[in-house]
Amino acid sequence: MPGYELLDKKEFSQVSDVFLKSKTLFRMGFENQRKGIFKVKEFERNFAKKLKSKHALAVTSCTAALRVALATLKLKKKDEVITQSFTFVATVEAIIESGATPICANINETLNMDPDDLIKKINKKTKAVIIVHMLGVPAQVDKIKTICKKYKITLIEDTAWGCGGKYKNRFLGTWGDIGAYSFDFAKTLTTGEGGMLIFKSKKKYELAKAWHDHGHENNPKFPRWEDTRKSSGFNFRMTEMQGAVGIAQLQKLNFIIKKQKRNHDLIWKKIRNIPGLKKRIYPKGSEITADALIIFVKNTIKAKKCRKELLKVGISTKILPEAYSWHFAGLWSHIKELNNKKLKRSLKKSENLLRKAVSIPIFVKMKKKQISSIYKGISKALK
Ligand SMILES: Cc1ncc(COP(=O)(O)O)c(C=O)c1O
Repeated sequence: MPGYELLDKKEFSQVSDVFLKSKTLFRMGFENQRKGIFKVKEFERNFAKKLKSKHALAVTSCTAALRVALATLKLKKKDEVITQSFTFVATVEAIIESGATPICANINETLNMDPDDLIKKINKKTKAVIIVHMLGVPAQVDKIKTICKKYKITLIEDTAWGCGGKYKNRFLGTWGDIGAYSFDFAKTLTTGEGGMLIFKSKKKYELAKAWHDHGHENNPKFPRWEDTRKSSGFNFRMTEMQGAVGIAQLQKLNFIIKKQKRNHDLIWKKIRNIPGLKKRIYPKGSEITADALIIFVKNTIKAKKCRKELLKVGISTKILPEAYSWHFAGLWSHIKELNNKKLKRSLKKSENLLRKAVSIPIFVKMKKKQISSIYKGISKALK
C-alpha cells in the first residue's frame, strides 16, 4: 500500500527546512525571506524528471487535479466526459464540477475501462475520456489512446493509484494528454493530502497553472497584487509543507514498488492453487504498482466470506467487497446525473465482475505470517 509506512527522518528534515530556514509556507513569492527554498517547485521538477515528462503541476488532491485538468478543456453544459464504472466517486464529481455530463463505460476482466464499450459510448458530445488505472493495474491505454485520437477526444489518466506503474515501458499518467495523481494518505506516495498533474502540452500546463491559482499568470513583470490574468479559476495550491514531504517520498518510490511487487508475487504464489479463484487480468506489458491483488471468486456470498475469514486472521480487504458501493457508479443514486435506470442496466457487466471480486491489500512491510494468514483465510472461505 503506501508511502505512509515509510514516513521518517527524511520527510522531517525536508519539512524542517521550511520551518527553520525558509519560514515560508506559501509556494510563491516572499523571495526576500525564503532563502531560495521553493519546496513545491522542487517537488514538481523532481516528479516531472522521474516520470520522464516536462510539465508537472502540484495541487491539493487528485480530485482537484482532475477538476483542474478538465478546466483546461473549457467544457460546455452539454459536453460529455466518459469515465469507467469502477472508480472512486471523485472522478465523477470532478466531471460534474466542470459542468459536463459524466458517462460511465463498463470495465472488463482487467477491472479497468473496456475499450469496446468506450467506442459504443462515444458520440458528438464526447469531449474527453478519463481512464483509471484502478488499484495500480494499467488500463489498456494504447487501445484507448488510438480510439481517442481517431475521434479527436482528450485523454486524461486518473493515476490516483498508479504512480510509478508502467505500461509498455512508459509511466502511467504520461500516455494521455494529462495525467492526474493522488498523494492522499492511502496512496503509494503521500503528502497527507495532495495531487499532481502531468501535461504533454505546455499551453495546457500554463492554463492549468493559472486556473489552480485564481487565474494568476505569475507574470514576472508585475508584483502578485497587480498580476495579469486571462481566465478565472480557483484555489488548489499545494503548500510548502506538502511539497517538502513529497520531495522525500518521491525518493522512496522505486523501493515501495519493488517491495510491494515482491509481496504481491509471494501472495499470488501462495494462493494461486486454491480451487475457485482467478486473478484479475493484467494487460500484457503491465508493470503494476502492486497496491492490491484482486481475485474473482464464484459469487458475492463467497466474496463476503473471504472478507469475513480474512478479518478473523487479522487481514482486511481493500475496497472490494466492503467499499464496493463507493467505487461502482451503478450504485450512485445520490448523484442525480447518474440516477437513471438506463445507466444501471448498461453497467450489468461491471456489476457482475465487481460483485465477485476480493481485493487483498498489499503493504511494503509484510511479514511471512501475514501472507500465510491470507492463504488461511481465503482457503477457508472457498472450501
Ligand atoms: C480512482 C481515484 N481517483 C481519484 C481519487 C481522489 O484522490 P484524492 O483523495 O487525492 O482527492 C481517488 C481516491 O482514492 C481514487 O481512488
